[in-house]
Amino acid sequence: MADMPNDFWSGWIILITLISFIALAWLVISVYTAAPPDPNEVEETIWDGNLEEGQNPAPLWWFWLIFAMMVFSVFYLMFYPGLGSFKGAFQWSQGGELSERYSAFNENFTELRAEIAAMPLDAIRADDALMGSASDLYKQNCAACHGYEAQGQANLFPNLTDGIWQWGGSPENIEQTLLNGRVAVMTSWEALLGQQGVTDVANYVLVVGSPEAEGHPGQARFNQICSACHGIEGTGNPLLGAPSLVDDVWLYGGDVETIRTTLREGRNGRMPAFGEKLDDEQIRLLVAWLTR
Ligand code: HEC
Ligand code: HEC
Repeated sequence: MADMPNDFWSGWIILITLISFIALAWLVISVYTAAPPDPNEVEETIWDGNLEEGQNPAPLWWFWLIFAMMVFSVFYLMFYPGLGSFKGAFQWSQGGELSERYSAFNENFTELRAEIAAMPLDAIRADDALMGSASDLYKQNCAACHGYEAQGQANLFPNLTDGIWQWGGSPENIEQTLLNGRVAVMTSWEALLGQQGVTDVANYVLVVGSPEAEGHPGQARFNQICSACHGIEGTGNPLLGAPSLVDDVWLYGGDVETIRTTLREGRNGRMPAFGEKLDDEQIRLLVAWLTR
């Protein structure tokens, strides 16, 4: 109700509520106080052979029930929000309720947070309850992209369970990945390499680091351009997020056609930052969970 545009709408809603309430009260009272129909004037109506339409008034306890509910609503509307933007005598609000519960939650968990912050990762990994919370955090924040089981998805979101880390796999590296996010920069090389160059270098990627690399038509271009980030042997560089090309793990795909697409179009994977969204203890739980 707080974001009602102005008093006019609030008043309007109060009016509609009160009119409906009074109309309902009038309806109920008039039904129960009306004179019973004269039995001689009303025709017996019989349906389906033996279903008779009753002429009896509705039982009186219905009336008291409805009456009690109406009295209840009057008190409810006096004490709780319900009439336009009137907050009720108790000044209750969902937001207030929420922030009260939130501060109660914070109080209960400050201690636990301090504990988590001081715990070695190994101890966190050994604690089933903490790992359960970490797994819940993962499901809420990460599963949409990395998959429910963290096995990666759609040749766009890396597998987080294979022990291969494009941006480094130490707890510190992973913490950085989560806090600040990562933006991979691999531009298109088509202009520089030309069609034939793209094909040669793509084929070279399949043999880099092996004996067949020597004297390969793609070797010179690879050493000249690609090795700056991926290394002469193709082993990659976690500081730049340049993946190893020799580990048989591919984010976008390791067949020659996909590698050519990678080279022609470039790739710019973006891992969002969670430093604002999650607190330090939650990040720590996730780091422990990812390196379990
Ligand atoms: C400026 C550094 C840089 C240079 C130079 C560079 N790359 Fe990359 N490369 C990256 C990064 C960073 C990624 C990761 C992209 C992502 O995750 O979205 C990548 C990804 C790739 C991939 C995708 C791997 C996968 O798992 O699917 C291939 C293949 C690749 N590079 C090959 C090359 C080749 C061949 C060259 C030379 C023509 C080259 N790169 C030059 C930084 C570079
Ligand atoms: C909007 C989609 C998205 C969400 C949500 C997301 N990620 Fe990512 N994440 C990515 C992408 C894309 C990459 C790959 C970036 C690249 O190409 O280098 C990535 C990379 C990573 C990496 C680096 C992997 C490596 O090999 O170094 C880690 C770790 C990671 N994510 C963990 C998480 C965790 C934990 C969460 C939840 C808190 C999360 N991600 C949520 C899209 C997402």
